[in-house]
Amino acid sequence: MHQEQTILHTLTNTPVQCQVTVIFDGERTLFELSSDGKALVDAAIDAGVDAPWSCHAGVCCTCKAKVLEGQVHMKHRYGLLDEEIEQGYILTCQSHPTSETLVVDYDV
Ligand code: FES
Repeated sequence: MHQEQTILHTLTNTPVQCQVTVIFDGERTLFELSSDGKALVDAAIDAGVDAPWSCHAGVCCTCKAKVLEGQVHMKHRYGLLDEEIEQGYILTCQSHPTSETLVVDYDV
């Protein structure tokens, strides 16, 4: 549960502007995303990343990625086991950054 407390965080009333780095197919893409903005996978797609998704409801895990640095708030996490969260995995269709920097890797 220690890692869950590290990567998962609740949203605050004051939005956080985050510098996001997404790693996909070995390429790094940087973009800014507010904690009250789009879901991480949608922002990544807008930034040109061919990020995978399917249900967009937190069930299928197609959008699963690993947090290497930073924190997120996940609205739903139906498809993730506690052990996966402990290892740093998130569902990017349900995730919003809560830290000023965030590094997420789809390749792991
Ligand atoms: S797209 Fe299905 S869990 Fe995110």
